[in-house]
Amino acid sequence: MINKKNKVAFFASGGGSNFQAILDKINSQELSEADPVLLISNNSKCGAVLKAQEAQVAVAHISGYTHKTEEQQAQAMVQVLQKYGVEWIVLAGYMKKIPALVLEKWKNRIINIHPALLPAFGGTGMWGHHVHKAVIASGVRVSGATVHFVDEIYDNGAIIAQKSVPVFSEDTPKNVAERVLVVEHDLYWRALQGLLSSKIYLQGSKVYGDIQ
Ligand code: GAR
Repeated sequence: MINKKNKVAFFASGGGSNFQAILDKINSQELSEADPVLLISNNSKCGAVLKAQEAQVAVAHISGYTHKTEEQQAQAMVQVLQKYGVEWIVLAGYMKKIPALVLEKWKNRIINIHPALLPAFGGTGMWGHHVHKAVIASGVRVSGATVHFVDEIYDNGAIIAQKSVPVFSEDTPKNVAERVLVVEHDLYWRALQGLLSSKIYLQGSKVYGDIQ
């Protein structure tokens, strides 16, 4: 059976290991439902941009350098997303807020991965290493990764999938980050696959169905 291909755009600001992990699953046909058509980045020199170029995925650099105002940035995003016929947006280490205009046009079609077990350790300022620092400072013995829908509030949308990892007393933020990243790479493509194949879906504010 040939699966329907959904045109997917990625947003990334950093190294792009989550982006690459999903591309790998698309290339190996395990995630045959996705067609990666575009990467949007606010950082033209980041690892994710290099990875997109290597994979021949179109890149759009949209930031304060390319477009002065937030409104112009939002318009540019919508324009390029529409140009590529994007149906789903996957945030993969994107460190900027998604403009309201994009949220409105791709409502319930934008997902994010967060490096902790939401609703704990989320919200404004909780990104990247800040999350792992807070996890260690709190003394919790588990952390993990959360895939969730994106709405207008940081890390607030309905939770799609989670996976936990242990936190040990001798851990540093760096090694918690590394341990979490391993599960992120396994979790994100499965969550995306569930959504693209409608095995996972949002009804009201609740998510139904599970990752395979
Ligand atoms: C990942 O750990 C991701 O969960 C986190 O940034 C890292 C990006 O790594 N995202 C956030 O903190 C968003 N709030 P990557 O560039 O190697 O995929």
